[in-house]
Amino acid sequence: MASSSGSEHDGSVPSWRLVGPSSELSKKPCRLMFSPLGRDADVCLFHVKGEFFAMDARCSHSGGPLCDGDIEDSDGVLQVFCPWHDYDFNLRTGKSGTGLQQEVYEVKLEDSCVYVKHATALSLTPFPAVNKT
Ligand code: FES
Repeated sequence: MASSSGSEHDGSVPSWRLVGPSSELSKKPCRLMFSPLGRDADVCLFHVKGEFFAMDARCSHSGGPLCDGDIEDSDGVLQVFCPWHDYDFNLRTGKSGTGLQQEVYEVKLEDSCVYVKHATALSLTPFPAVNKT
């Protein structure tokens, strides 16, 4: 039996996180998935051309909101363009023509539901505010 350190659900080890039914999530090109760690850890769930992609929601350049970016198909390469300075990020790899790298996450469909492999829970609604002073 595999050793258990209790880490599967404590946010330290990536595991499959249920996001919701694919029939619902495929209705919009992008959804923001909230992380309990705060906005810097939020993730975009893109749905483009029948496929789901997950990527850190804050642009690795200066934190722009990639969920609000334009999505384009450039010769079969799907990219999102950051709304702040128009940097491109490949939805599949997270690579940008600028040399920056955006974190991407595996997505799977199982029993008509979407799962994202991530270190923390992900929710379509914000987590209760953490103490901020
Ligand atoms: S913040 Fe995204 S390109 Fe500058």
